Amino acid sequence: MNPSPQTVVVDGLGLAQEIRKELGETVAAHLAAGRRAPCLAVVLVGDDPASASYIKGKRRACKRIGMESVERTLPGTASQDDILAVVDELNRNDGVDGILVQLPLPEAVSPHAVAEAVLPAKDVDGLHPLNAGHLLHGQPCHVPCTPAGILEILRRFEIPLEGANAVVIGRSAIVGKPVSLLLQQQNATVTMCHSRTRDLAGLCREADILVAAVGVPRLVKGDWVKPGAAVIDVGVTSVAGELVGDVDTEGVQGHAKIVTPHRRGVGPMTITMLLGNTVTAYEDSLA
Ligand code: GUN
Repeated sequence: MNPSPQTVVVDGLGLAQEIRKELGETVAAHLAAGRRAPCLAVVLVGDDPASASYIKGKRRACKRIGMESVERTLPGTASQDDILAVVDELNRNDGVDGILVQLPLPEAVSPHAVAEAVLPAKDVDGLHPLNAGHLLHGQPCHVPCTPAGILEILRRFEIPLEGANAVVIGRSAIVGKPVSLLLQQQNATVTMCHSRTRDLAGLCREADILVAAVGVPRLVKGDWVKPGAAVIDVGVTSVAGELVGDVDTEGVQGHAKIVTPHRRGVGPMTITMLLGNTVTAYEDSLA
């Protein structure tokens, strides 16, 4: 019997650091030319500990590559108008290149209204309908950060996309839909799965590329994975105080060619794409 092939557990942090080094060099070149540093503004509403921790990671990442960051923190009781007023102030601020309003927002606030309020040129989250529309049309735009990070991981591991079967579990506007579009643009054949999908396991078994972005702990089992597939785990759910991904990482060992772990996998790449989108927004504003 053949021994099981080794599964590579992707070091997302290592990849992210390589790209951040390049971004740091770009920022340093702007500073050396006498220009100001690019600046990311992050808006946090409420005191969700996970959101606070993500924001801390973003602030640290900006600092490490020489970028500026500013934060606007509002209480969980803030109204939609309160949030829109902060977005408006940041839109008008010429020293701010990128704006990210951390999700989730309080129940009473429409995430669509907030996404629409951000100037498309500063929408480094890629959630404004104009950027989402450009993505649909295959036009240049700010691409949502997690999908962009996933494509970068696949590119760096030289996973063939042309004609590949890609299965995406989850149909969110922030991950499932945009990553499906990006994979399709690279000529993959994409199947989008969700909670009503019949025979999810059977569809997954056909996937050369399997992206799980649904928030169901350890949904994807080893025997759902086609031998040699690339498995990307986007889910992070807290189960009894422990963070758990959508993929049974241990179970897919020996089945997958690569798998991203739920920690230090896609997450650091997401932040890196956010930095990249902010540097792009800054450079666009110079042009
Ligand atoms: N919360 C979790 N991920 C994200 C993201 O990519 N963007 C925003 N705005 N909020 C998030």
